[in-house]
Amino acid sequence: MRKLIIIAIVSIFYLIMASCSKRQAEEIQPDVPVPGPPASAVSYSTFVSPLLQSRCAGCHGAGRSAAGIWTFNGHASVVSSAARIRSSVLVNKTMPRGGTLSAAELSSLQTWFDSGLPNN
Ligand code: HEC
Repeated sequence: MRKLIIIAIVSIFYLIMASCSKRQAEEIQPDVPVPGPPASAVSYSTFVSPLLQSRCAGCHGAGRSAAGIWTFNGHASVVSSAARIRSSVLVNKTMPRGGTLSAAELSSLQTWFDSGLPNN
């Protein structure tokens, strides 16, 4: 009887140890890489401004053909029309008219919107 109890205790001990080491092995697994730069790296001045300057300003810059619909003129002009820009570029993808943004550009732009439209 005593032998049985000892065997039971030893088995339970091994079971606990086995489940612990399995859990630790799962925790050590590296994180799955997330596409796109970290949120802190995407700011208006470093990424969004140059992108909009090259892909939107030709039509939406001051005095250009589509300036009446939205005029691209610095951070404030993007923040004040953020919802329209977000829907036309990221949701409906109707802008930039006559072109497309790369998957990486779309992903970085999404990150910038998600992180609250930081200027710097
Ligand atoms: C080739 C010219 C052209 C380019 C390049 C262009 N747009 Fe436009 N955009 C237009 C025209 C024309 C309209 C109005 C007609 C329409 O909505 O399709 C418009 C409309 C818009 C609107 C208003 C949409 C609405 O529903 O209120 C936004 C916002 C906008 N563009 C943002 C952008 C952004 C951001 C880019 C760059 C990523 C861009 N556009 C590039 C010509 C352009």
